[in-house]
Amino acid sequence: MSEPRKILVTSALPYANGSIHLGHMLEYIQTDMWVRFQKHRGNQCIYVCADDAHGSAIMLRAEKEGITPEQLIANVQAEHSADFAEFLVEFDNFHSTHSEENRELSSQIYLKLRDAGHIATRSITQYFDPEKKMFLADRFIKGTCPKCGTADQYGDNCEKCGATYAPTDLKDPKSAISGATPVLKDSQHFFFKLPDFQQMLQTWTRSGTLQDAVANKLAEWLDAGLQQWDISRDAPYFGFEIPDEPGKYFYVWLDAPIGYMASFKNLCARTPELDFDAFWGKDSTAELYHFIGKDIVNFHALFWPAMLEGSGYRKPTGINVHGYLTVNGQKMSKSRGTFIKARTYLDHLSPEYLRYYYASKLGRGVDDLDLNLEDFVQKVNSDLVGKVVNIASRCSGFIHKGNAGIMVPVNAAPELTEAFLAAAPSIAEAYEARDFARAMREIMGLADRANAWIADKAPWSLNKLEGKQDEVQAICATGINLFRQLVIFLKPVLPLLAADAEAFLNVAPLTWNDHARLLSNHQLNAFKPLMTRIDPVKVQAMTDASKEDLAASQTDTGEAAPAGNGELTKDPLSPEIEFDAFAAVDLRVALILKAEAVEGADKLLRLTLDIGDEQRNVFSGIKSAYPDPAKLEGRLTMMIANLKPRKMRFGISEGMVMAAGPGGEEIYLLSPDSGAKPGQRIK
Ligand code: MSP
Ligand code: ZN
Repeated sequence: MSEPRKILVTSALPYANGSIHLGHMLEYIQTDMWVRFQKHRGNQCIYVCADDAHGSAIMLRAEKEGITPEQLIANVQAEHSADFAEFLVEFDNFHSTHSEENRELSSQIYLKLRDAGHIATRSITQYFDPEKKMFLADRFIKGTCPKCGTADQYGDNCEKCGATYAPTDLKDPKSAISGATPVLKDSQHFFFKLPDFQQMLQTWTRSGTLQDAVANKLAEWLDAGLQQWDISRDAPYFGFEIPDEPGKYFYVWLDAPIGYMASFKNLCARTPELDFDAFWGKDSTAELYHFIGKDIVNFHALFWPAMLEGSGYRKPTGINVHGYLTVNGQKMSKSRGTFIKARTYLDHLSPEYLRYYYASKLGRGVDDLDLNLEDFVQKVNSDLVGKVVNIASRCSGFIHKGNAGIMVPVNAAPELTEAFLAAAPSIAEAYEARDFARAMREIMGLADRANAWIADKAPWSLNKLEGKQDEVQAICATGINLFRQLVIFLKPVLPLLAADAEAFLNVAPLTWNDHARLLSNHQLNAFKPLMTRIDPVKVQAMTDASKEDLAASQTDTGEAAPAGNGELTKDPLSPEIEFDAFAAVDLRVALILKAEAVEGADKLLRLTLDIGDEQRNVFSGIKSAYPDPAKLEGRLTMMIANLKPRKMRFGISEGMVMAAGPGGEEIYLLSPDSGAKPGQRIK
């Protein structure tokens, strides 16, 4: 046997200002499965993570909730930890970037970079919110795209035409925090001189550390030439103050990856056999892998290795990048109930269903992965319940009834057992390469063969015949052994199922190498169902609950604009609202594709609306003014697109169209001028 490898693994540090959702879980589950596989194989593998606790978003959210940032991040850390634990994501340490270890390491790394001449300073001009008295990050500035004129675009790029620009190019800029018109202001900033590392990065990114697609993308940036990276932010900011520079703070992305080190250091402090330098020192022989999503590649594959190189640490062995999660073929959507929080999933379904589904679809590429909810139910039920668990439930009864639960020492299918053994290296290779989809395909291929063999032997028929008891026992003992092999292969994905199977099999925790041995003359424990089918009703309940989550937690994802602060109003009929409250309303041009009367409702029309990137079903009480609804088809109107969907007797209404007038025949549907396009936002 070769020496066990020493491996340190990380997942990206989730932001401490929002809940974990199933998109995040793709990453944590993927990493956890890989780590469990390494441990299963007898390697030393340490998995650390932390909450990413710094930045203005966290500061602002804490302010809004009326608590300190420290309280906010403590609350969120408790929530995150519980979600991860229930999804069976087993960190060796889950720390926080707002920690002493991280403060020390960040300062030390910065000082090493500074003393080696890799830090530059210069004054930059930026938008400043005169009301909030703070500089505005790009995403806190909204305005009209200078290229195409689309209103309401954030910071530095236009969602509509894809143009990129400086926030100062936006027309009619507004602070998304206060609504104030920002002013330009100068301040001294600190820059990390990334171009100093151009040569090193050119080599490093091509040294097998990255997937090809990622290396190719980076080559485009490298060829274009690297820019200095702005690593400082002015007060007020929630983060670490830069040594020797009062009022200047490290930008969150400077200390975030150092958080990987800090979490590991924190673990070392209470684990005597772990040596920090053995993993992070320049001469470390340990392997270091970061699992991340495709959106944060530049931070991990350019800035981070350069920071490590410049401050005398080792660089990562590999950066493992995954794509984004879609649900039912589309971006996760709150109105469709497919923006599913980890907690909402756990309220309805068992974690291993999702772990298996992700495994069955995760390859080594950076493609997006689709959680198709129908396919999810079908696949889990057919593979895990129908194929794997089925073997044990088919065989165990005969062993308990016919032989007091003892597996006879006979192998009735030597070729099949041989085939299972022979498949192990290839399955291990697939896991090692993070090709979980291939590993699952191969394992399910074996499960199919085992089931076909048992079906062919039909112990349930033999059992009814005289003198076939020995044969029945031999078949069932063999079946249980095959089941045990499958459990060993699946254990990194399904740790709970494996633990329950170990209890039933009456064996110590299984490790990978146990696949080479068989049980014989072995006493089993009573069989309890190891996994039940997914009831589609529960999936529906989960998506329904996700729609309900929506109103309760608009700001959880940092996406929605903050609601107004509830100040007293002057006129009770038309209360004054904050700009924020107005900005929170998603007003859009909608094309009426279809308009029809609703059976059983004398006031309602059912409208099918095209709002650019999706279609909406809206019920509107305007029938009295439009007795011939088909005439509305093809006409433009305006709708509120982010109104909480409402369940009505006739279906779900996903928004509201805008009309004026007293009622009856006098209802006037609003329309934009001609030329407006469906989906355009009204501001
Ligand atoms: N805080 C930074 C990471 C700092 S690492 C030093 C961050 N946080 S995050 O909460 O936004 O994302 C955490 C991880 O989840 C990232 O790797 C990100 O790519 C991943 N995902 C977030 N949404 C996702 C999907 N919808 N699908 C797949 N992965 C997603 O980025
Ligand atoms: Zn544009």
